[in-house]
Formats: sequence, structure tokens, C-alpha cells
Amino acid sequence: MSERVLPDFVARDVDLAKRTTLALPGRAALYAEVSSLEQLAMLAGDSLPRRFVVGAGSNLVLSGDFDGLLLHMAMRGRELLGDDADAWYVRAAAGENWHQLVLWTLAQGWPGLENLALIPGTVGAAPIQNIGAYGLEVAERLHAVEALDMSSGRTLRFDRAACRFAYRDSVFKQEGWHLDGRQVITRVVFRLPKAWQPLASYADVAAELERQPSELPPARPPAPPTPRRIADAVMAVRRRKLPDPATLPNAGSFFHNPVVSASVAQRLAIAHPEMPRYPQADGRVKLAAAWLIEGSGWKGRNLGRVGMYEQQALVLVNRGGACGAEVIALARAVQADVRQHFGVDLTPEPIFL
Ligand code: EPU
Repeated sequence: MSERVLPDFVARDVDLAKRTTLALPGRAALYAEVSSLEQLAMLAGDSLPRRFVVGAGSNLVLSGDFDGLLLHMAMRGRELLGDDADAWYVRAAAGENWHQLVLWTLAQGWPGLENLALIPGTVGAAPIQNIGAYGLEVAERLHAVEALDMSSGRTLRFDRAACRFAYRDSVFKQEGWHLDGRQVITRVVFRLPKAWQPLASYADVAAELERQPSELPPARPPAPPTPRRIADAVMAVRRRKLPDPATLPNAGSFFHNPVVSASVAQRLAIAHPEMPRYPQADGRVKLAAAWLIEGSGWKGRNLGRVGMYEQQALVLVNRGGACGAEVIALARAVQADVRQHFGVDLTPEPIFL
């Protein structure tokens, strides 16, 4: 690495504390703010140190300093690629803010992303963990992902099947992607169907729509919700339940909702009939990690300077000045207690660096 002259947009010894939403301390030996494909291509090749890619840092736990090259994806741009009889195709660059993209598509009259309003992070990060909320996963609106292979400098294109989406998972989480920055997502193409259907059955959203008066005069039967009303309801629910990282640093849900066998779910349901259960297509059952954490006594409880949030037990919050080791200690304590109380293993959702 020492022989290679680095472009002048690569900075040295950069403080990362304000660059992740958990606000944990750490420094990057090298840090590049990447605003264009040309800049990204300048950092391709095999002679650079270990790389790691970040967007808004909203799903990242910094364990300490990073001795490699951190690539901050800041590429902007969004456009309508075209439409056909069935759908609009919208392309956005990896560095675009996710929520602003959602609002922009709604304002243009291309609905379909409204259930994913207010999710923190960038467009380029959205497919990696297949972001989802209130009955929708981004996989269902995704058409293609464009990426740059950092070894060869070649452009790659993944259609939806090649992304291998699953619950909070995709091919992009596998080795060779963000773990070592060998292939970097540059743009995402969304497919927004013209035959729009409201997704408003998620209990929290349905209740919020009941509370908010419709902009239309009362109708019998009631008028169906508009995309904008669903977005407003989702935003209201999120603002009420999830802490704003700007005031209380966090990384959203800290654990996946565990998916267990039918027999394990049955055993738990006998002991805890009130436990939320979500049967899956394959016969297994998804459980609510927040409920298991609350049932283990961790809701609103702290360990050192971190804790599990009082309004939503699945969100780990930094109460101020915490470091990565404290986050890891709390995560382990919660996992151990949930295992002891319910015999269920929790897997962390964020990526650890
Ligand atoms: N619950 C509790 N205690 C709590 C919070 C919730 O018992 O403190 C129960 C609720 O009563 C409900 C169940 O747990 O029966 C599920 O709660 P909620 O609807 O709040 O959603 P979640 O399963 O905790 C998931 C996603 C969120 C997403 C919401 C809404 C995961 C890991 N998390 O949370 O995504 O916003 O559903 O769709 O799948 C994220 O991934 O960062 C994230 C915030």
C-alpha cells in the first residue's frame, strides 16, 4: 500500500464517532468520501489495504479503530429510467438518502415504497440487509442492483433473483462484499408497479390510519388509504416507537426476529400463550425478539452506558459516551438471558467492524 499514491480525496486518521448512528468511538486509518463512479474506480485494484464500505453508518457497530480504507459512498442521483404498461423503473445512486428517495417517488406519483418511509440509511445499503418494515421488504420493489468489482474494475449487474433475498439477508452480506469491500454497490433500480395496492394490515399502521383523519370527507364505505397517508402513518408509528439517532444514538433493531421450528414454537406457546408468533411459508415460526427481550427483563434496562430502549426492547441505545466493547457486552448479556429464559438464540442484525 505504501508504494501506491492515494488520490487526494483519501483522508488519513479520520474520526468516525459522528459517522455512525450508534456514535461509538473509532478512527479509520484511511477514509474516502466517494462521490462518483470515477472516484470509486480510482480506488479499484488489489494493491490497496483492507477496504470496508459504509453508507450512513446506521447499521454498524464500531468495535474500535479500523486500520484499512473506509469507503463512504456519497454518490448522488435519481431518475426515472422508464416505464411500461405495468410499472415505473426508478434508478438511484448508492449515496442517496433512503427516506428522501421514498418521499421523492411519492411526490412524483410513483407509489410503492411508502411502508419503508423513515428507515435510516442510504439507497446502496437497502438491498444488503433487505430492509423491511410494516409488511414490506425492499426485495419486493427491487429490479436490479449495479455494482463495481474492485479487483477487475468491471461493472456487475444483479437481477432480483441473483440478489438471493431473504429476511434481512442477501447475497451482498456474504464474504467478498462489504466485509472486505471487493464489490461495491453503486446504483439500485426499483420497480414500482402501477397496479398499486395499499399494504395497511400491519396492526400498528392500521391503528394509526384509524387515528389520523382522512383528508377526504367521510365516505361509506371508508375511502382506501392513499400512499401518502400510509407513509404518514408509518412515520408517526416510527417516531413514536423508535428513538431518533440524533438524540439517542442507536442502530435500529439490534437482533433479528428468530425463526424457529414448529415444535420449538409449540413448546413456547404452551408456556407463554400470549407470545407473538408469525408462521412462515416453510412451516417454521418467526418470533418477536422484542417480546423475548422484554420477557427476559431487559426492556429499559442498562449495562454500563448502553441499554435496551424503554419503548422498543429490540433497540440497543447508547446513553452517552459508550464504546464498542460495552455494546458487545450488553448484546452477549441479552443473548444469554433470552437463551436461559426461552431456549432461543438471538443473532445480531447490524454489521460489526
Ligand atoms: N414487542 C414487545 N416488546 C417491545 C416491543 C415489541 O413485546 O418492547 C412485541 C410487539 O407487541 C409485537 C412484536 O413484539 O407483538 C413485534 O414488535 P414490532 O411490531 O414493534 O416490530 P419488531 O418485530 O420488533 C420489526 C423490524 C423493524 C420494523 C418493524 C415494523 C426486525 C429485526 N425488526 O421489528 O425493523 O421497523 O418490525 O415492521 O425485523 C430494523 O430492522 O432495524 C427495524 C427497525
